[in-house]
Amino acid sequence: MQPELLNVADYGRAAEATLRRDLFDYYDGGALDEITLRENVASWQRLKLYYRVMAGVTSRDLATTVLGRPVSMPVLVGPTAFHRLACADGEPAAARAAARAGTAFCLSSLSNTPMEEVFGAASSPKWFQLYLYKDRGLTRELIARAESAGAEAIVLTVDAPGWGNRERDARNGFRLPPGLSVANVAPVGKGDFPEVEGSGLAAYVRTHFESALSFDDLDWLCSTTDLPVVVKGICRGEDALRSAEQGAAAVVVSNHGGRQLDTAPPTCDALPWVVDRVAGACEVYVDGGIRRGSDVVKALAYGARAVLVGRAILWGLAVDGEEGAFAVLEILRRELEEAMLLCGYGSVSDIDGSVLKP
Ligand code: LAC
Repeated sequence: MQPELLNVADYGRAAEATLRRDLFDYYDGGALDEITLRENVASWQRLKLYYRVMAGVTSRDLATTVLGRPVSMPVLVGPTAFHRLACADGEPAAARAAARAGTAFCLSSLSNTPMEEVFGAASSPKWFQLYLYKDRGLTRELIARAESAGAEAIVLTVDAPGWGNRERDARNGFRLPPGLSVANVAPVGKGDFPEVEGSGLAAYVRTHFESALSFDDLDWLCSTTDLPVVVKGICRGEDALRSAEQGAAAVVVSNHGGRQLDTAPPTCDALPWVVDRVAGACEVYVDGGIRRGSDVVKALAYGARAVLVGRAILWGLAVDGEEGAFAVLEILRRELEEAMLLCGYGSVSDIDGSVLKP
């Protein structure tokens, strides 16, 4: 690890210096005025930790389980698209980094590498993020392939019935560089963006993804797969509870990294309501704006079982491929350990709401 890369923000700046502007903007940007994007980060920062003293902590146990499977820490690799924009190895590099860190890896539907190759690359829990294609036969096929390739959960993204207007992408005319495709569906002719002005990804989504997504689709998904279903993109308590009642094993409180509805609340604000409403009916995870180990303590204090990180992994990949992604995970692990010690917690299962509101 280069000495100046001490934290996730350092990796972000180094990635910005490395990546072509339009590609960095695609990863970094959010919808419209990017208010939710900024607030996701700022809200965790604003939350203060009322640490306990003289707690006599002798060890720090970060291990937990997600969907019943052990992970070495409550920091999971969330789904992000198109890893080959960041480094030549792309998604397999990210999957291997997660496996080395002993944590779960969620592969995006919009991967530059076929899922079989990615899932073959790593041994830790593997999840497949699903966008519902209008073509249900194709969607069913993606699910079946994920099942045979060893996925242990299907993560349904529900915050994208339409596509957030990422103005950076519109201005840059974002498209995939030659040689890269939406690899999972390339063999059936759906691997390329339409040739349009503005964001090619936005046009791809309009062409192919279901815009009338409803709770019936969740029923459909739960009856189509025996794998646990995780519903990602939840903002409201009642939507989380209904998801659990219809069979979801977990929900992710998420606003898609501020990339969909701008001025949606930061996930830090939405999380406690969701946890309260779900009342243990399913596991609750959170993503959006997690940049420090202390953010993870705060998320767990609000009742999340684990957090997912997205951009942080992309920055790691852009700076140093698998090694960079692994380094970012290890930074978050070390910071989480340090924050736990300073808060007086010996185990992630001890983290409780009192540290936020004594
Ligand atoms: C995005 C998608 C692909 O946010 O999830 O760009």
